[in-house]
Amino acid sequence: MGGKTISGFSKLSKMGKIKWLVENFFKDPETVKRELASYLLANEEQQRILDGFSENTISNYPLPLGIAPNFLVNGVTYCVPMVTEESSVVAAAASAAKFWLDKGGIHAKVIGTLKTGQVHFLWYGDPALIASHTDELAAHLIRGCKEITRNMEERGGGIRNISLINMCDREPGYYQLLVETDTRDSMGANFINSILECCAQAIPVWFEEHLPDDVPVPEVIMSILSNYTPDCRVHAWVECPVTDLGDFEGGLGPEEFARRFYTAVRIAQIDPYRATTHNKGIFNGIDAVVLATANDFRAVEACGHTWAARSGKYKGLSKCSVTDGIFRFELEIPLAVGTVGGLTTLHPLAKRSLEMLGNPDASTLMQVIAATGLMQNFSAIRSLVTTGIQKGHMRMHLHNMLLRLEATESETTQAIKYFEDKTVSFPELRKFIDQLRSAVGAKSL
Ligand code: MEV
Repeated sequence: MGGKTISGFSKLSKMGKIKWLVENFFKDPETVKRELASYLLANEEQQRILDGFSENTISNYPLPLGIAPNFLVNGVTYCVPMVTEESSVVAAAASAAKFWLDKGGIHAKVIGTLKTGQVHFLWYGDPALIASHTDELAAHLIRGCKEITRNMEERGGGIRNISLINMCDREPGYYQLLVETDTRDSMGANFINSILECCAQAIPVWFEEHLPDDVPVPEVIMSILSNYTPDCRVHAWVECPVTDLGDFEGGLGPEEFARRFYTAVRIAQIDPYRATTHNKGIFNGIDAVVLATANDFRAVEACGHTWAARSGKYKGLSKCSVTDGIFRFELEIPLAVGTVGGLTTLHPLAKRSLEMLGNPDASTLMQVIAATGLMQNFSAIRSLVTTGIQKGHMRMHLHNMLLRLEATESETTQAIKYFEDKTVSFPELRKFIDQLRSAVGAKSL
């Protein structure tokens, strides 16, 4: 890699960055330059907004925005915006939503909206002393954060609770100040972190001013929100009499389907290998909506996986029961998302995604996202226990492969028809397209 480093890269203009990059890392700099430029927005103001989201930007990286219609959640019909690069995800979500449309739709309920932040500090004094002063310290810190919390309080949010956790049994002198907050419709990361840093500054001062001189002063190690938000959680479920499930591909009746589906969900509760894939399927749906609404999908994923492992063993996030002739399928998951602030209103398409959803508050968005995760999971398991996943996948994959081969409309139609009852692979498809092309070539000679 010798010779390809640079200092002051961030200070170069966008063109300067591109020039240095293409000349040093690409075989055909001019083509790459043109290609990068072709993905820039014609609207310079909007491009400037996008550039502002990140650093060292050289172009945009487009992903498809798809729509899954017919999502009936708590009696309201939604068109769900989904940003994903994986073929069949949107189709699968839409198909499951349609399946449940005439069976009462999806039900969802927010269980809580509290988010937590932590100030981690070391203190080697008498634990009983700090325990007896916790309420006093908490009240002092809440007063000290007033400047930061005023606006949020006006919107009905703010600090809900401050507690002190003695963790000295795990690490000598280690304490946590736990700050629980309600950030209303914002994701609230900046709000929480500002509160925490304010507390972190105030803690040592409070010790110095309020406790005897011989009491040591705490050393704050760090202050940061926790992306694990078990108290910001939503529950989504579908249910219907087993007989209403109807018949499935491959001649599977409703009882047999319910039994196989239940077993598949149980397997994800038992086996972490299966649980990981099972949950990946759920996040196929969740992440796509989180991305479409410009929320933080890394935070949502990290939290979901910690929740999946909360018993000490990683498990599937959804549950299924078949009791007294009723099929019930449900998902309970922490989701920290916002509908105001951050990029949600800055990103032009995220703004449209939210508008499409009726400009929901954060709780309603949590319900729609959980509903999408549940439908994604329903669709995947329905395929797995009936036809298998490849049938649908390969149909979508065929389209991608045809794009790669730059197939014409007529070639595409013929290929779809030809592979309807055959296994698709790239070499087979290429052979088929080559044959079509050479037949056309021979005719025109
Ligand atoms: C593929 O992206 C997702 C699935 O593997 C999920 C699952 O197996 O449940 C189909």
